Amino acid sequence: MRIDCGPKAGNHYVMATEQVISREETPGTATVTPPVRDDDHMPIHGIDHVEMYVGNAAQAAFYFVHAFGFTETAYAGLETGRRDRVSHVLEQGRIRLVLTGTLMGSDDIAAHHAHHGDGVHKIALSVPDAEAAYNHAVGHGARGILTPHWVEDEHGRVQLSSVATYGDTQHLFVAREGYKGAFLPGYERRADTSKNPPDSGLFAIDHIVGNVELGHMNEWVHYYERVFGMTEMIHFSDEAISTEYSALMSKVVTDGTGRIKFPINEPAEGKRKSQIEEYIEYYRGAGAQHIAVATRDIVGCVSALKEQGVQFLAIPEEYYDEVPERIGEIEEDLADLRRLGILVDRDDEGYLLQIFTKPVGDRPTIFFEIIERHGSRGFGEGNFKALFEAIEREQEQRGNL
Ligand code: FE2
Repeated sequence: MRIDCGPKAGNHYVMATEQVISREETPGTATVTPPVRDDDHMPIHGIDHVEMYVGNAAQAAFYFVHAFGFTETAYAGLETGRRDRVSHVLEQGRIRLVLTGTLMGSDDIAAHHAHHGDGVHKIALSVPDAEAAYNHAVGHGARGILTPHWVEDEHGRVQLSSVATYGDTQHLFVAREGYKGAFLPGYERRADTSKNPPDSGLFAIDHIVGNVELGHMNEWVHYYERVFGMTEMIHFSDEAISTEYSALMSKVVTDGTGRIKFPINEPAEGKRKSQIEEYIEYYRGAGAQHIAVATRDIVGCVSALKEQGVQFLAIPEEYYDEVPERIGEIEEDLADLRRLGILVDRDDEGYLLQIFTKPVGDRPTIFFEIIERHGSRGFGEGNFKALFEAIEREQEQRGNL
């Protein structure tokens, strides 16, 4: 699979026009629609942070620090003068994860947690102007939530606004240029890392996947096209993503710079309950399914994460028997991949390595992916079958297949 980006002109990306890619040998497996982008009314610098609403932010922060190697860099709560909620801000590389819990028991956080369990509430996008972003989004059909406003403290000011996306998930627009504080006004810097394990080498968010209800995938793909000017990058049909028992469909939207990739999944008809249906049943609606975080040393990273207690999906031994023939030459030692359960896939542009955690909370909902790319901009299509069979074994243990 090959996706060519054309010349970059200022903020404007012009995508090449003759780069249609499809796997002719397997029709319907994956098609890439050439993104055409000659304007940018919705400039986005990247993902500013992801905020999860959780049942116990202190313990969730401990987990992500000690199991995933994040560092707590900022905090807001009773000690900083905030009376209703507590937030721990964790960072690793350019990844910023905010874990928020309620102190009130009867607010939006409590309601979100009672309904969904631990889950992503905000996917915050860094923008040059949160008012322009809001006006553009609402003008193109997004439901506005927070109207644009400035917040400030002695470190400067930040402009915020937000709009709704799938389920109860929101996109917060953050314009923080020139702001010198630890995170946002109201947060105090935290820097005691003396008891932390070392950084695990995670450096950026690669993509965030949303699961939506049956029949709603295209609606959300169109939302990202209309509201954010994103383009559909790739499409996986239910034939491509199916096992003996269950199926799903997926389309990926991107902002064209590659900094933002949002795959959207919906369940498809299968013999048994698909993993997307299980997610939607337990999350009680659409929501963020997984956050893929990138590393440049997946073998070292996953070794550390396993040592620190992160649980990953188990991949059967037989998977590795056909890897040399399917993938060809790679830099990593196959024995390491086999030992750690890391998956590998190749397309025309290169290869990628990936591994998926088990759900990180009580419900079979949100999980993480660790990914290392060597040229490939795909999503591990060649691994879908092995991966979904691994998920189904877990579903079966939960009585949900
Ligand atoms: Fe993924």
